[in-house]
Amino acid sequence: MSAIKKIGVFTSGGDSPGMNAAIRAVVRSGLYHNLEVVGVMRGYEGLINGEIIPMDRKSVANIIQRGGTILKTARSAEFRTPEGRKKAYEQVKKHQIDALIGVGGDGTFTGASIFIDEFNVPIMGLPGTIDNDLVGTDYTIGYDTALNTVVDAVDKIRDTAESHDRLFIVEVMGRDSGLIALRSGIGSGAEAILIPETKTDLPHLLERLEHGRKDKSSKIIIVAEGDDVGAMQVADAVKEKFPNIDTRVSILGHMQRGGSPSCMDRVLASRVGVAAVEALLEGRKGEMVGLINNNIHFTPFKKAIKHIAEVNPNLLKIVEILSL
Ligand code: F6P
Repeated sequence: MSAIKKIGVFTSGGDSPGMNAAIRAVVRSGLYHNLEVVGVMRGYEGLINGEIIPMDRKSVANIIQRGGTILKTARSAEFRTPEGRKKAYEQVKKHQIDALIGVGGDGTFTGASIFIDEFNVPIMGLPGTIDNDLVGTDYTIGYDTALNTVVDAVDKIRDTAESHDRLFIVEVMGRDSGLIALRSGIGSGAEAILIPETKTDLPHLLERLEHGRKDKSSKIIIVAEGDDVGAMQVADAVKEKFPNIDTRVSILGHMQRGGSPSCMDRVLASRVGVAAVEALLEGRKGEMVGLINNNIHFTPFKKAIKHIAEVNPNLLKIVEILSL
């Protein structure tokens, strides 16, 4: 028999589509296992301030299809301090919470890892970020939806680019990771993709534009937010070298974090949510639950956050081959 009788669920860091599906999975499977379930509002911020609400079956009805997070989210500066974490622990004790499940990315798991070391509260994590930059899961909750959002937006930009014979430089999210840029670029037929994982070779890009096919009426260059050169500077360089190319910049921004989650994200969130509750009951803690090759996989928080900035070179090659 597990000593866990009451669990709390929270979302933290940047929101991602599918977080609600994850909350639903945790709440419903917790209830299925006869646990009491509470929701912690605003991530670690709400834990510190005791913003804790009861969750029943109905509290998660009709949310699987909704973007954002009903529990809201925050990036808590206070939780990074020992005093903040102590306050959070006092709330855990006060509300008699035996274990926690957090949905988020590297900041969330870094905080959870320190909290476990300090207070030994069992915590399991679910990978919730559009960036897909965690070790221990093929995909993170929200990545697939964000990719579809970007591809949809670029398709629309392509229409106007084609009509005006323009070159568009489209900036997509990813402060430290080019994985959104990479896949959405392939999926939208981009002519070039610039990402933080590889050093951007501006002269090479300009050369490709100079010697590339002349009969293309539209061109799309996808630039990740964290690229070392950046969308604006690329645009300036293109405009300077090719004043006759009609060039525009489009920054997609936070629309990439919103919207109804794709079925892939809903299923992923549901599977890892159920597995996280079961893992806690089996006595596991300090791990992120992911899916690798379609199987549930546990990765210690300290390893999950060690995303190494490297991308599959084959994917980059594909962009060059297909943009001929
Ligand atoms: O981590 C997800 C992400 O969307 C990054 O790609 C982006 O750089 C960052 O969040 C922006 O976060 P915010 O605007 O919430 O500070």
